[in-house]
Amino acid sequence: MQEKLKDLKKIAEERIKSVETLDDVEQLRVDLLGKKGELTQILKGMGKLSSEERPVIGKLGNEVRQLITDSVNSKKEAIKASMLDKRLEMEKIDVTMPGKKYKLGKQHIISKMIDEVTEIFMGMGFSIAEGPEVETVSNNFDALNAPKDHPSRDMSDTFYITEDILLRTQTSPVQIRTMKKAVKEDNLPLKIIVPGRCFRSDSPDATHSPMFHQIEVLVVGKNITFTEFKGTMETFVQKLYGPETKTKFRPHNFPFTEPSAEIDVTCFKCGGAGCPVCKGEGWIEILGAGMVHPNVLKNCGIDPEVYSGFAAGMGVERLAMLKYGIDDIRLMFENDVRFLDEF
Ligand code: DAH
Repeated sequence: MQEKLKDLKKIAEERIKSVETLDDVEQLRVDLLGKKGELTQILKGMGKLSSEERPVIGKLGNEVRQLITDSVNSKKEAIKASMLDKRLEMEKIDVTMPGKKYKLGKQHIISKMIDEVTEIFMGMGFSIAEGPEVETVSNNFDALNAPKDHPSRDMSDTFYITEDILLRTQTSPVQIRTMKKAVKEDNLPLKIIVPGRCFRSDSPDATHSPMFHQIEVLVVGKNITFTEFKGTMETFVQKLYGPETKTKFRPHNFPFTEPSAEIDVTCFKCGGAGCPVCKGEGWIEILGAGMVHPNVLKNCGIDPEVYSGFAAGMGVERLAMLKYGIDDIRLMFENDVRFLDEF
């Protein structure tokens, strides 16, 4: 029996060495030391021993049990430690590795330009109005006092959807919509700006795009004179290009304004001395404007004897090209990130 116990101890040591998982160690412990385990089987023979032998074998049995228990426990600890090592190895963070780059988008140059202009006018108490890009011919031309033979009405200049519906060629039709609505809601006077997309049947080149943006300005009220017109536009220009900037109102012709003007500003690059940006002239044309034509007011149900107003319209791409020295309008629509990133 003594031999059996010594053999069991030896075999147990080897078997414990060869197992690799916690489950297997536990199973082995049950096999060796459990109620039906191998040690118990051996010790069952104790009843047949003499009274001298019994305590000796009993002691040896206890020693073997203790030894196996110790080995099992230290094996379990070893397996746990090596599992932890493996996990730490797997979850290790190498702080010297280059990080993942998340590239943030940014505002498009055109949106930025619109925001800049909008902010200036909002600072002067204007609110923002909007209108549809698909417009009626009536709002886009007739109500704006454009004569039937006006060249901009030509099929080759404008995208017609039907005879009466078109893609708006300018943001000016929103003047009509806003004035009619104000009359209906008894909501005059008006001070609005209208940023939006416009369309003309132009072949794309460095200065033309069939789709582009405008910002319309409209003020209608009692006692609105050329003085308010001039003061507002000058304030706008100085906020956009700096307080030194001068304006020049050059006579022009638009169907919907009388008198009409194109507004030039002293070149923000050279201050008026002449440079490539202003093509040596010292002045740059930035927008069209004028006092609202009485016919336009009448077309919206407003009495031109009581009310007057002024209006202006500017091309957003043109403002951006001037401001940032961009020489081709198409760059703004090609969406090459290397270009867009510059602004
Ligand atoms: N709608 C004109 C254009 O597209 C620009 C313009 C000129 C708008 C004078 C106005 C204005 O409101 O008064 O060329």
